[in-house]
Amino acid sequence: MTFYVGVDYYPEHWYSEQWETYADQMKAASFNVVRLAEFAWVLMEPEEGRFDFDWLDSAISILDKRGISVILGTPTAAMPAWIKHKYPETLASSDGVKRDSWGVRKNNCFTSGAYRLLSERITRAMAEHFTGHPAVIGWQTDNEIDWPVCRCNTCVREFHVFLRDKYGSIDGLNRAWGTHFWGHKFSDWDEIQAAVHYKEDNPSLCLDWHRFQTHLQVRFQGDQVKIIRSVCPRHFITHNFMGLVNTSNCYELAKDLDFASLDSYPDFPVSAEPKMPYRTAAHCDLTRGLKGKNFWIMETTAGPTGWSEFGRNPRPGEMRKTFYQHMAHGADSQLFFRWRTCTSGREQYWHGLLGHDGKPGRRYMEAAQIAQEAQILAPLLEGTTLRPQVAIIYDYDSRWATEIQPSVAGNNATEAMQRYYNALLRVGVNVDVIPSNRSFSAYRVVLAPQLHVLSDETAERIESFICDGGVFLADIRTGVKTESNLCHERTLPGLLSRSLGIEIGEYEAIPDEYEITGLEGRFERYKAKGYADWVSPTTARVMVQYLAWHLQKFACVTRNNYGLGFGYYVGTIAQEEAFYNALIADILNSAGIQPLSPPPGVEVSLREGDHHSLLFLINHTEETIAVSIAPGLNEVTTRTTTGTEITLERFGIAIIKIPKNVPFHPRQAEPVDRLLKQTASVAA
Ligand code: GAL
Ligand code: ZN
Repeated sequence: MTFYVGVDYYPEHWYSEQWETYADQMKAASFNVVRLAEFAWVLMEPEEGRFDFDWLDSAISILDKRGISVILGTPTAAMPAWIKHKYPETLASSDGVKRDSWGVRKNNCFTSGAYRLLSERITRAMAEHFTGHPAVIGWQTDNEIDWPVCRCNTCVREFHVFLRDKYGSIDGLNRAWGTHFWGHKFSDWDEIQAAVHYKEDNPSLCLDWHRFQTHLQVRFQGDQVKIIRSVCPRHFITHNFMGLVNTSNCYELAKDLDFASLDSYPDFPVSAEPKMPYRTAAHCDLTRGLKGKNFWIMETTAGPTGWSEFGRNPRPGEMRKTFYQHMAHGADSQLFFRWRTCTSGREQYWHGLLGHDGKPGRRYMEAAQIAQEAQILAPLLEGTTLRPQVAIIYDYDSRWATEIQPSVAGNNATEAMQRYYNALLRVGVNVDVIPSNRSFSAYRVVLAPQLHVLSDETAERIESFICDGGVFLADIRTGVKTESNLCHERTLPGLLSRSLGIEIGEYEAIPDEYEITGLEGRFERYKAKGYADWVSPTTARVMVQYLAWHLQKFACVTRNNYGLGFGYYVGTIAQEEAFYNALIADILNSAGIQPLSPPPGVEVSLREGDHHSLLFLINHTEETIAVSIAPGLNEVTTRTTTGTEITLERFGIAIIKIPKNVPFHPRQAEPVDRLLKQTASVAA
């Protein structure tokens, strides 16, 4: 495989006399790819229907001569001024009354016929012009498609069409949305408005409005994809997602693509305590989960970032270890954002590899080192990906329903998932992030934090998963809502009651000082936060209990043995990470998974292939850390053989090659099956 490393490059920001030098510098850095043109619409189509690709042709041929490949971005995220001037209706209208200002970018209405036509036309012109160019390998659609939300008349009319397709009749919609409340019954589609206040409008309307936004974006992207596929059949098509930051349903947007890409900007806070970048890992795992396969990093930090105020400079080695963290989670190519820091415009302080002065300095040198290392690793990475035994369901319907009604103040679906995710990463267990409708059969453990919207079908699949031997976890607000965002009429957790062995008669918001305490070995005393389910076990065993007098007869955390598996339920949010550590330890034990348990500050991740696997060790701290490791294995970046310990310098990384067919626990000198047997007999 070719591992592409390169930059997001804007030749149009510089004099053409500089292009050769830049291309030479890129080549000297071993870069083999650039992304171009995603904001250059006005240069490619200076007036309607007149196309000019000469400048781009010369930029590309300069790159091509140096063997640098090109990804082209369709430029529709930045509307030329002539478009809004000629077709004012192409601008979004957030309030549905007046058009938004053109000012920034990402300001188009997705239903504007003019905008859709113009988007198709520039896409086709680019595709036809570049299809035969040997340097061009693929396309990025638009840029970070996620907004704006437009409420113009056309959008509202399209919303009516979307609803009619979905519900068939106005009576069907009235039933689905429960419009008997407040006398909101509709007698005609035209009476339905856009969702405006997510915290006040009918929750069913709000949920469908969210789905409608994704529908519009999928359709807009689909228009471009159709053209590129037919004109450029040899090129790949991807899109640069923002991981958990996206508000639209990315699984839907990814369907049309060959693979997903991620724009990854880890937090480099100036003053905050350094913390483990598990958020970055989660963005990667979600991006891999979009299509269930490896992905690209289309943009990543190359210097201090910010529009008006910037963060700290990546320390020496920090870009490199971030690069390996992405790779460890399945990134198969990566581009730094951006080449040279622009001297004009809103992103003057979003620094590139080269500063404003254009001198290739420290950050450039580090990127060059990374690119060279990637070329050496490429053959080993070929055919490897993550094959986790644990999955977390990340469900957009539930996320939106939780945004519309958090239930208790501050509750957030993404943070909920991150609490479990972080605990898994702390013990070195890889995670797949999946939608609720993907098969669970590859997993021993499935966690479904705050699966607020639960269809009967998903509930049934969960029940069979547990019954057949899976370990499953649900927590607060699970199954509260139907797919149209009505409250289920069943006693919670509804169809999961049997497999979880509990019933939840009541629930409430609680103050943050309520305490909970473990009844079983691993659990200690913790503080609950914000919410309590009053859980009555039917067949489940109580693991953690509330201490408040009125909650003492109810359970807080339960485990139910159902069929061959286990169903866990967590009825609150705990404040301490230690709570989640104890819980995950219990869950992994129930599933017979032996975690790698890296020392604090070190992240581990395993890419598995049919012939060998690669264990990544990443030191996220500025201290030197020694990790105990099985001896006699090959460390591939230094080409050395491991002793019993491996030393990771500050921000240091190691990649250990593990020959296949040995079921090997890479941190112990004993085969995994023996360890597992031992654990099993201890448990028994
Ligand atoms: C990304 C975006 C880039 C650039 C960068 C810095 O989200 O895709 O075009 O704007 O942020 O702001
Ligand atoms: Zn609109």
